[in-house]
Amino acid sequence: MERTLIILKPDAVQRGLTGDIIQRFERRGLKVVALKMLQVERSLAEEHYAIHRERPFYSGLVEYIISSPVVVMALEGKNAVKVARQSIGATNPAEAAPGTIRADFALEIGRNLIHGSDSPENAVNELALWFNESDFAPHTRVSEPWLYE
Ligand code: RTP
Ligand code: MG
Repeated sequence: MERTLIILKPDAVQRGLTGDIIQRFERRGLKVVALKMLQVERSLAEEHYAIHRERPFYSGLVEYIISSPVVVMALEGKNAVKVARQSIGATNPAEAAPGTIRADFALEIGRNLIHGSDSPENAVNELALWFNESDFAPHTRVSEPWLYE
C-alpha cells in the first residue's frame, strides 16, 4: 500500500468543494488516513513548492496557497500516488480530461483546486513535511476485500 499527500487549496475551501472532492477519492476506494484544516505558514508553502522557486509563477503560487485555509490529507491505497493524480487531472484545468476534479470544478491553472504528490518518493517527503507520525490513524476498512483481490 502507498500513501500520497493531497492538499485542497484555498479555492476548494472557499468554494465549498472539499466534501465533493473527498467523496470522489473515497468512492474510488482510496482511504483517508490523516486529515486536517490549517492556515498555511508562508515558510511551509515556500518549502512545499521549493522545486518551483525559480519559476515565474512561484511567488503567486505561494500567495495563493497562504491566502485562506486549506484541507490537507493523506490518502492510502494501491498505487495511491498515480491514481490520485489521475483523478485530479492535468495541471491546467482547461486541458484536464472530463471526469477529473480539475476539469469538472475548475477553469484556470492558477486556481486548480488541489495538489497531489507526483511520485512515491515525493509523497514520502511531503507527508513528513505536512504531518507528524501521530497525525495518522491507520485502520482496515470492511470494504477492502471488495477493493483488492
Ligand atoms: P500540484 O503540484 O499543485 O499538484 O500541481 P501539478 O503537479 O499538477 O503542477 P506543478 O507543475 O507541480 O505546479 C504546481 C502548481 O503551480 C501552479 N502553476 N501555475 N501559471 C502557471 O503557469 C502555473 N504553472 C503551475 C499550479 O497551481 C500548479 O498546481
Ligand atoms: Mg506538482
